[in-house]
Amino acid sequence: MAYVIALAGKGGTGKTSTAALAIRYLIENRQGPVLAVDADSNACLNEALGVKVHATIGQLREDSLESIRGGGERPGGMSMEQLFDYQVQQAIIESRGIDLLVMGRPEGPGCYCAANNIIRKYTDKLSETYRYVVIDNEAGMEHLSRRTTHKVDLLVIVSDPTAKGVLTAKRIHELVDELRLDVDKRVLLINRVIGEEGLDLAKTAEKWGITVAGLVPQDDMIFRFDLEGKPLFELPSDAVSMKALFGIFTALQLP
Ligand SMILES: Nc1ncnc2c1ncn2[C@@H]1O[C@H](COP(=O)(O)OP(=O)(O)OP(=O)(O)O)[C@@H](O)[C@H]1O
Ligand SMILES: [Mg+2]
Repeated sequence: MAYVIALAGKGGTGKTSTAALAIRYLIENRQGPVLAVDADSNACLNEALGVKVHATIGQLREDSLESIRGGGERPGGMSMEQLFDYQVQQAIIESRGIDLLVMGRPEGPGCYCAANNIIRKYTDKLSETYRYVVIDNEAGMEHLSRRTTHKVDLLVIVSDPTAKGVLTAKRIHELVDELRLDVDKRVLLINRVIGEEGLDLAKTAEKWGITVAGLVPQDDMIFRFDLEGKPLFELPSDAVSMKALFGIFTALQLP
C-alpha cells in the first residue's frame, strides 16, 4: 500500500507549493512511482508541477452521465463502472515520473460530492499500485469531512506566520480527532517565515499539542518563479524554501 501524504491548511498558505516540492523530494530521494492527486476543484497542482491537464474526474463524470442519458453504446459491452475505470486510467497524466489525477469540478451548478467520492475511490484503489500518494486539498476544512482518502499516513498542515493561520491549523487538528479520521501522523509547517517570526506561533501550536515539523522561509525565488509563470517543481535545489522543506522531509523519516 502507498504511503499517503495529504496537505491541509488555510487558503494561500502554500499547500500546493509544498505538495509540489514534497513530490520532488520523493522522486529525488525515494524509489517507486508517485501518484499526485489534485483534490482542489480549482486545480493548480499541475501548474506547480509543470504538467498539462487533458482530463479531470469532474469532466469525465459529466461525460459518462451524458452518455447514459443519451443511451449511448458502451464499447465492448463494458459496464458503466468498467468504462469509468478505463476512463480514469486514461485521465491519469504521466509526466516527469509522476502520475497526476485531477478532480476538477463538474460543469454547471453540480455538486462536488460525486467527483469527490470518485477521487476517494480511485485514490484508495490506485494506492495499491503506487509507493507514494500526495494529495493537494483545497483550503479550509470541508475536504476533511468529505474525505479525499480513507487513510492518511501523514497530514501536513500548512500555515502562514499569522495567528489566523495557526488557529486554522488548530481547528483542523481538532476536526481530525472529532471525525476520527484515519490519520497516522500530523504535523504543522509554518511557511513564508521572515527572520525570527513564526517561532512564537510554533510554541503556541506545540502548546496545543500540535507537532511543528519546521519553519519554511519566505523565498524570493518562489516569488520570481510565480512572476514568470514557471513551475515550482523546477526550483533550483539551492532555493532556501526547498532546502528547508527537504530538511524537514528528511527529519520526518518517511518510509
Ligand atoms: N516559501 C514561500 N516563499 C514565497 N512565496 C511562497 C512560498 N510558499 C508559497 N508561496 C507563494 O504563495 C502563494 C500561495 O501558495 P500556494 O498556491 O502553494 O498556496 P495554497 O495554500 O495551495 O493556496 P490555495 O488555498 O489557494 O490552494 C503562491 O503565489 C506561492 O507561490
Ligand atoms: Mg492550493
